[in-house]
Amino acid sequence: MLDWSEPSPPARQALPFVAQSVAAADQTGLGAIDRSGGRVSVDDKRMINCRADVNQLLPLKYKWAWEKYLAGCNNHWMPTEVSMQADIALWKSRDGLTEDERRAIKRNLGFFAASESLVANNIVLAIYRHLTNPECRQYLLRQSFEEAVHTHTFQYIVESLGLDEGELFNMYREVPSITDKAAWALKHTQHLDDPDFRTGTPQADQAFLRDLVAFYVIFEGMWFYTGFAQILSLGRRNKMVGIAEQYQYILRDESIHLNFGIDVINQIKIENPHLWTKAFQDEVRAMVREAAELEAAYGRDTMPRGFLGLNAALCESYMHFIANRRCAQLGLQRVFDETENPFPWMSEAMDLKKEKNFFETRVIEYQNGGALSWE
Ligand SMILES: [Fe+2]
Ligand SMILES: [Fe+2]
Repeated sequence: MLDWSEPSPPARQALPFVAQSVAAADQTGLGAIDRSGGRVSVDDKRMINCRADVNQLLPLKYKWAWEKYLAGCNNHWMPTEVSMQADIALWKSRDGLTEDERRAIKRNLGFFAASESLVANNIVLAIYRHLTNPECRQYLLRQSFEEAVHTHTFQYIVESLGLDEGELFNMYREVPSITDKAAWALKHTQHLDDPDFRTGTPQADQAFLRDLVAFYVIFEGMWFYTGFAQILSLGRRNKMVGIAEQYQYILRDESIHLNFGIDVINQIKIENPHLWTKAFQDEVRAMVREAAELEAAYGRDTMPRGFLGLNAALCESYMHFIANRRCAQLGLQRVFDETENPFPWMSEAMDLKKEKNFFETRVIEYQNGGALSWE
């Protein structure tokens, strides 16, 4: 089982790519078929602004992208496999949860319910078109499906607990501390989704990098992590154990999403060093700092009084710890004073190897069910 706690080392050399002369060799893969073009070689491949045919997966250049695709497939799960009986009993009991716990759970679910769609939309409508590498696109297709599974999880939770679906799925519009985060990220999708947007200039390529930072590093790599910590903290106290189990599987998926995003950004940096200017690095650090502040405001709103093992101050420290870690993964200086991890047990929850048996069992089950008859 692969360990995704650290991003894979990106390919080191920035090799010149062979521009295909035919106009049909476009970056989307949707142009006219180039009947006279040569076969793609590894050296032709590039993360962005590649003119080589993006419909030829092989030969692979970025093996880390293919390995993440395989790891995602091996981690396959469905929310409906998790029993919600204990959660239903606890949620319906009069005194099993405090009002503060209920508020935090509902807002957490509300944040994730729409966020999974925002992330999926960003992959499909903003990233896919401009990431000109087939093995990375293969991973994006797998990731898109995983985001659909995550959205399904929130539908299943709402249905199981009998929650108000309108309340939950509208929180990203109606709860200001959630809206602020969603709107902050959405502006990057909107920019790239503009039909006139094209990569190929330093300004446009930096806009693409900004979107990758906003979604992979910040949305999935920072905001989701405090969300996981909140629910897993309750799970550790034997509360909402079904949701906590689902969040563990989502966390496993998201840790690969995050590390894929970091690898993509670092590889784009290697191939396009002119984009990673001092001013741009400062801008990325400012994005991380601003995102941590938005998360702190969300934490205060979600947990005005806090409860056993969890409060807004602890979540803010955790966010600072994570923010510094993300900066290090991008080769940037930290943005906050060095902070202890207030939730050291989170690294256990993230450790894929710990749950190896679960996935091995699942894989075997899926393989057993592999001889499906479609009649
Ligand atoms: Fe997700
Ligand atoms: Fe994700």
